[in-house]
Amino acid sequence: MSLTTSAARRDLAFHLHPSTNLRQVQSEGPLVITRGEGVYVYDDEGRRYLEGMSGLWCASLGFSERRLAEAAYRQMLELPFYHSFGGKVPAVSTELAERLIGIAPAGLGRVLFANSGSEANDTAIKLAWYVNNALGRPRKKKIIARERAYHGVTIASGSLTGLAFAHTDFDLPIARILHTDAAYYYRGARAGETEEAFAARLADNLEALILREGADTVAAFFAEPVMGAGGVILPPATYFERVQAILRKYDILFVVDEVICGFGRTGNMFGTQTFDLKPDIVTVAKALSASYVPISANLVSTALYEILLRQSDKLGIFGHGYTYSSHPVSAAVALETLKIYEERDIVAQVRRVAPRMQAGMRSHADHPLVGDVRGVGLIGAIEIVRDKATKQSFEPKAGVAAFLVRRAQHHGVILRSMPGDIVAFCPPLIVKEVEIDEMLAGFGKALDDTAAMVREKGLA
Ligand SMILES: Cc1ncc(COP(=O)(O)O)c(C=O)c1O
Repeated sequence: MSLTTSAARRDLAFHLHPSTNLRQVQSEGPLVITRGEGVYVYDDEGRRYLEGMSGLWCASLGFSERRLAEAAYRQMLELPFYHSFGGKVPAVSTELAERLIGIAPAGLGRVLFANSGSEANDTAIKLAWYVNNALGRPRKKKIIARERAYHGVTIASGSLTGLAFAHTDFDLPIARILHTDAAYYYRGARAGETEEAFAARLADNLEALILREGADTVAAFFAEPVMGAGGVILPPATYFERVQAILRKYDILFVVDEVICGFGRTGNMFGTQTFDLKPDIVTVAKALSASYVPISANLVSTALYEILLRQSDKLGIFGHGYTYSSHPVSAAVALETLKIYEERDIVAQVRRVAPRMQAGMRSHADHPLVGDVRGVGLIGAIEIVRDKATKQSFEPKAGVAAFLVRRAQHHGVILRSMPGDIVAFCPPLIVKEVEIDEMLAGFGKALDDTAAMVREKGLA
């Protein structure tokens, strides 16, 4: 972070930073990143950082995959833009759709493209509403998401998101979007409650909510297989099995948000496979193109597609899509990304190195400030607490995890802190074991710095 370089000064003068404390960036300055190489990025003063968050959980192939740059360049020369409205289509988008369905979870037979995770989740809400209108169920429109979920920030996807910062003063959530419990075993379980008993209680709460609202008014349930921005929260044993039984019982669509988990992150191609999910719609983005260009998609079940087809007969058009749905440059980069995943067997690579990261994280479990260590594949989190035995947190305003993450950055490792003093790890999928060790060593130093700060300030 800098206030002195020319880039930093100009940024402060002109840029409105998204998802940022605007006052803090004015006083501390931005971290201006100028280039990337492998899992590392470099700032405008030449300092190197191991990107332990793949940027925003997304740069799956790191920051210097030339094949993706070349795919974009080739496509720009050949066909820089075309669209998919009115039955037209850039050839490369067809190729991408075919390849995506080739690896998609069973039952998903059609792809609808968009540009961001938020847009894909917006689209999934619209599809749920549209389908129920088509089926003559105009009342069946409410959507249930979970507390702590992160599904984006557009008006509808931001409403799905179950985090206060996405709602407060933005007049969200909109009507007809409801929230049920986060499946957050570490914080939510009662004393002595097993994961199974906790999952059963949450499933009962979900069913009670559906019955209270009227099952004939609930259209869809949204879930991330592993919650990301909400704190890297893994589903407790039997949770999704129970939830899915309820959704089936009341004829409620299951939308699985794979924007983070998709394409290998959890040690399978999709989180859907890791947790045995049977979705009607899957949303993907981020690692779909290794994040080199914006692109997202809804993978839609064949059964839902049949309903859209019939509705198109009736209305004369399926009236949804963006100028940049199936943009050929994005499609070309995504296609090349999927080829790389296959050639390098990205799932096997994740399975090979993930135990190193999970074990390395667990090696900090006995530290007095570490309350919980959790993760799967190449995603994980360490929750910082004031009191290990009681799980008591620090005051939010003390910003303990934010301090830790600033110290990690000082030690050359970019991590992310989230509300509740949770520190997330989500390195590029190409990360090597030595780089995992380096990432965790940086975290370890930052943890020691944090312990010293906590002692000095008398916070514990
Ligand atoms: C699980 C999940 N869904 C949706 C989104 C929103 O994606 P975007 O920021 O591309 O709109 C995110 C972004 O972090 C995400 O983590």
